[in-house]
Amino acid sequence: EDAVTPSGALAGRTVLVTAGGTREAIDPVRYLGNRSSGKMGFAIAAAAADRGADVTFVTTMQPPADLAQRVRVVSVESALQMRDAVLAATPDVLVMAAAVADFRPDHVADAKIKKIHGDDSAPVITLVRNPDILAEAVRQRDAELQPTAPSTNVSSRVIVGFAAETGDADGDVLHHARAKLARKGCDVLVANEVGDGVTFGQDSSTAHLLRRGSDDVVTVGPAPKSHIAAALLDLVADLVPSQ
Ligand code: CTP
Ligand code: CA
Repeated sequence: EDAVTPSGALAGRTVLVTAGGTREAIDPVRYLGNRSSGKMGFAIAAAAADRGADVTFVTTMQPPADLAQRVRVVSVESALQMRDAVLAATPDVLVMAAAVADFRPDHVADAKIKKIHGDDSAPVITLVRNPDILAEAVRQRDAELQPTAPSTNVSSRVIVGFAAETGDADGDVLHHARAKLARKGCDVLVANEVGDGVTFGQDSSTAHLLRRGSDDVVTVGPAPKSHIAAALLDLVADLVPSQ
């Protein structure tokens, strides 16, 4: 275990962390989901609390009891519910560690979908796009800033996005991460290397921390998610404008 007790680098700050994979309802008993364990989000929420922050944890996965005692837990299921919870808040730091489903069924059946007896047919589920919560949070933050600080470049809220990337014929993990950072407009992007059973549900992974406007990359790992969370929160604490 880490012997060093983190300082109160985020004392008096509000931090909102999202975690887990969203569940997109098909009918009252079924949903579309993904394999996110929520562990990275648990580690980040704990690291923020360790640094003295007032943490709101918007999650699809039940956090361990020791973490639940240290943060305000807001349980959600779908991307739309997560979006409402995120956009209703105005934290100093927003960390979007959740695996938000890109698509949801276009409508939720009121009753359980039943097989038709003596018929081999199957229903077709049509998907629609979910809102991009991270991109909306960036737009909301920038809209809040406009009237008060039109000429400054100071962010009132530090916004962190995540990406799980494999690298492909178009480029390596960092290439895709840089493109995503630019596209999303967030301040920091945590790019996790995935593939071959790494990261999902594991306690360790390799992450690259990228900052908007900087060519520097901090690579952490392979390391426990608690170490990656600590490196991220130390970086974030440096970016939060002093009070
Ligand atoms: N995210 C979000 N809302 C969505 C999808 C993603 O807020 N509807 C956030 C995630 O929480 C994460 C970041 O956006 O912090 C990147 O998610 P990712 O799935 O890697 O990015 P996408 O833009 O969805 O790109 P891709 O096509 O690679 O899935
Ligand atoms: Ca996605």
